[in-house]
Amino acid sequence: MKSAGEAADHIISAICDAHDNNPAALIEILHDVQGQKGHVPDGDLVVIAMALNLSRAEIFGTMSFYPDFHAQPPEAPVVKICRGEACQAMGALELADKFAAAPMAGEPVEVEPVYCLGNCALAPAAMIGDTLIGRADVARLQSVLADLKK
Ligand code: FES
Repeated sequence: MKSAGEAADHIISAICDAHDNNPAALIEILHDVQGQKGHVPDGDLVVIAMALNLSRAEIFGTMSFYPDFHAQPPEAPVVKICRGEACQAMGALELADKFAAAPMAGEPVEVEPVYCLGNCALAPAAMIGDTLIGRADVARLQSVLADLKK
């Protein structure tokens, strides 16, 4: 019978295998790990490093360069509001200010800026978890957050 650590290692190894243990796929691998676990635990860096034949420092360096990757699980839902040019032109900065002033009642949220979610045609864009939100407004953001709680 496998220990919890061995089972976790097996999941990480399977993710690396799905990318042919290709070091060029490191960012995709980190996204997949974070998608599975909600963050990329420190212990997984060694497993990834061994699978890709890279050093742990190389994995950590890549991971720490991109603010999207988290070593710890977020304490609250993360609301990403795009600050790219198209979204700024459609009121994203005002949306971020309004949302910060009217967060969910009693619910902490983390608001993070992002710079283009690839949804410019539906600006202002936002993302909560895996949910991409176009023509975002405060009510839609709050609605998606409420749905996450269910
Ligand atoms: S600029 Fe916001 S989605 Fe592209």
